[in-house]
Amino acid sequence: MADPSKRPHRKQSPYTVDRGIPGAYAGETVTRRRLFTGGALAAGGIASAAFGLPALGFALGPLFERSEAPNFQDVGPESDFNPETYVAKVITIDPYVGEPGKTTVYVRRFDPTRDTDKLHQPYVAISNRCMHLGCPVRYVSASERFICPCHGGVYEFDGKVAGGPPVRPLDRFDTKVVAGRVKVGPRFSLDSHLHRHKVRDPSNHLDGLWQYIYPSRPTT
Ligand code: FES
Repeated sequence: MADPSKRPHRKQSPYTVDRGIPGAYAGETVTRRRLFTGGALAAGGIASAAFGLPALGFALGPLFERSEAPNFQDVGPESDFNPETYVAKVITIDPYVGEPGKTTVYVRRFDPTRDTDKLHQPYVAISNRCMHLGCPVRYVSASERFICPCHGGVYEFDGKVAGGPPVRPLDRFDTKVVAGRVKVGPRFSLDSHLHRHKVRDPSNHLDGLWQYIYPSRPTT
């Protein structure tokens, strides 16, 4: 008996009539079942993309937003500041959105007898963005604390968490002095020991294993 695998291969006709498919008609090359199956799959794919792609864009878009002004900004002469209390200044963190791109920054002179951080900044410039969900905190000089009005977050004089839900100290900005004027630069984040990190969003932990669950965005 001849080996079937050795039989010469006959090319199958493209016409459904020649292939003996029930209900075929002359000139047809694609069965109606295949046509409707393919059409249904294509329609399903288009519908899924119509819902899925915008959602993906909303989810991934913020990863690539640039939201920090890269340059140092003048916040006043050195004589405006002292080591005992903070002075509120306004800087621009996003130059492309007008007024909403401005923020309050609390600035004071570094105090080597009181400050324990090793950040080597001549001035302490603290962000008013709460590290719980981002509400604006306010410095209360009577208690030497930063207070968040939203959920009761409290921060110490140097920005460390004193109570409430915030997960890490308040962010800071780089500072430098040029010709007697104080300049405030890019933002950076801090862990609970006031060690410097790449800037993170509010609610992102920077201590222990939690920091690996909240990786930084590529453009922050
Ligand atoms: S946003 Fe500040 S405590 Fe919740």
